[in-house]
Amino acid sequence: MTRRTTGVFEAGDRVQLTDVKNRKHTIVLEPGKSFFTNHGSVLHDDLIGAFEASTVTSTGNMVYLALRPLLTDFVLSMPRGAAVVYPKDAAAIVGFADIFPGATVVEAGVGSGALTCSLLRAVGDDGHVHSYERRVDFAAVATKNVTNFFGELPSKWSLTVGDLQDELVKHEPSSVDRVVLDMLAPWECIAAAAHALRPGGVLIAYVATTTQMSRTIEDLRLDKRWTDPEGQELIQRPWHVEGLAVRPNHRMQGHTGFLVQCRRLAPNTVLPPRRIRPAKGVQPEAEVLVSLVEEEND
Ligand SMILES: C[S@@+](CC[C@H](N)C(=O)[O-])C[C@H]1O[C@@H](n2cnc3c(N)ncnc32)[C@H](O)[C@@H]1O
Repeated sequence: MTRRTTGVFEAGDRVQLTDVKNRKHTIVLEPGKSFFTNHGSVLHDDLIGAFEASTVTSTGNMVYLALRPLLTDFVLSMPRGAAVVYPKDAAAIVGFADIFPGATVVEAGVGSGALTCSLLRAVGDDGHVHSYERRVDFAAVATKNVTNFFGELPSKWSLTVGDLQDELVKHEPSSVDRVVLDMLAPWECIAAAAHALRPGGVLIAYVATTTQMSRTIEDLRLDKRWTDPEGQELIQRPWHVEGLAVRPNHRMQGHTGFLVQCRRLAPNTVLPPRRIRPAKGVQPEAEVLVSLVEEEND
C-alpha cells in the first residue's frame, strides 16, 4: 500500500483545496492542467513541487489552502452506493475491535468501502481484509473508492460478492482474528462468524437502531459461543471555540449507530452465569426476587 514520505506535492497527488468560506474542492495534480473556479483558475503546476499545507492563489485572487485529504476528508466526499460508516464510528470500530497490524479481518457488507479503507490501514502490509458484499453494484463502487484512496488496488484486500453467511463458512475454521459486520441483520451471520473466528477473536457489529442492537445481543447470548455482548452508542459533540463564545455547536450529528461487541469462546467453554440484576420483564417476578436475594447474600 502506498505511504506518504514527503511533505511536497507531486504529480498524481490528490489535493484538497479549501477556500476562505471553508468550501472544499478535490483535484488530482497533472502537469500543465488548470482547475477552474468562479474565481479564475488554479494552475496545477503552481502546486506541483510546493509544500503541502501551503496556499495557492487563483487568477481571480482567491486564496486556497492546499492539503492532501485525510481518510476522513476522502470518506465524506467520495461517491456512495450505500450509507457509509462515519469517521468517528470507523475510529471506534478499529479501536474497540482491536484491529492490529498483521490481523486477518473479515468484513461485511462493504457498501461504499468507507470502513474498508480504515480496516486496510489498520491491518497494514502484513494483515489481510476479506470483504463480502451481496450487491455487485455496491462492490463496484467500493472497489473504485478503495483503489482511489490507496492509489492502487491493495494486495492485502479480497472482495467477494455474495452473502457473508454463505461465503464465510468456506473459510478455514478458527482462521480469522476479527469479524466486523455492518448490515441490516447481523444476527444472520452469527453462525458463520463463530465458524471463522479463532478463540478469543473479536466480533463487532455496527447497527442503526435499538431493535437491531437488542436482537443482535440476544441472539449472541442464545448462541452461547460468545462472551457476554456489550452494546454502546458513540456520541460526538463538536464545540464552537471563539473568544468568549465557547459552547457546543448548534448543529451536530445526532445519531449514527450502535456498536455490539463480544469475543469467541474456546470450543466447549461454557460461560459462567451472569451475576447481574435481571430486568423485571425478562423473568417471572418470583425468579427476580430470588436473584435479588442471592445477590444481597453474596
Ligand atoms: C450500510 S452498508 C455498509 C457500509 C460500509 N460499511 C461503508 O462504510 O461504506 C450495508 C451493506 O451490507 C450489504 N449486506 C447486507 N447484508 C449482507 C450479507 N449478509 N452479506 C454481505 N453483504 C450484506 C448491503 O448490500 C449493503 O451494501
